[in-house]
Amino acid sequence: MATGIEQLKQQAAERAVDFIQSGMVVGLGTGSTAVFAVRRIGALLAEGRLQRIVGIPTSNATAREAQRAGIPLGSLDDHPVVDVTVDGADEIDPQLNLIKGLGGALLREKIVAVASRRLVIVADDGKRVEQLGVRGPVPVEVVGFAVRPAAMYLASLGARVVERHKDGRPFVTDEGNRILDCHFAGLPNPQEIAQLIRAQPGVVEHGLFLGMATEAVVAGERGMVVLER
Ligand code: A5P
Repeated sequence: MATGIEQLKQQAAERAVDFIQSGMVVGLGTGSTAVFAVRRIGALLAEGRLQRIVGIPTSNATAREAQRAGIPLGSLDDHPVVDVTVDGADEIDPQLNLIKGLGGALLREKIVAVASRRLVIVADDGKRVEQLGVRGPVPVEVVGFAVRPAAMYLASLGARVVERHKDGRPFVTDEGNRILDCHFAGLPNPQEIAQLIRAQPGVVEHGLFLGMATEAVVAGERGMVVLER
């Protein structure tokens, strides 16, 4: 039985699974909140309450979790249009703009998000912010060859740039790239900074998900809300 914040994550994720119907192609998000949705989908399939679901995982870790849960998996090659994706977020602003990628899966997450008719974000209410970037970094995925010049460029945009490490080594994404965590003192104009980040050769993607989420299911101690864009 989950407790505290884990319970809030579970409540939000399980509520979001109500958006899924039999026969749908479903994007499976990554992270400690989205995993509850994966498990719930698996349980509903096992009970026969959901049928003919094809899951598109947003990371290798989620693919393994979905296999354990018994969810049939497909690819964007076979299913380039996704009916609904349920995924977590690190920050959610009042317009449902997001920062994602602290779990390192932002590239596949964004590809699946853009392929989705509906992107339902699941989170505990600690993820809500008035302005993106005040609290945490914007993760930027870069090819290994470009780490140093990309870091210098991102610093010139006003970020404190820290290359992400894991177990004492540079973190490597599922696509074989590296992550630069860019700490800005808030992003009053996230669209502008998103364009500037993308302008640097070697930058593959960034964790600003702007105008993509259609709903956010947010659970707090005082209840759950479904926010719509
Ligand atoms: C994975 O790369 C991220 O985008 C996650 O979706 C995000 O970090 C939220 O993760 P948690 O649900 O674990 O906080």
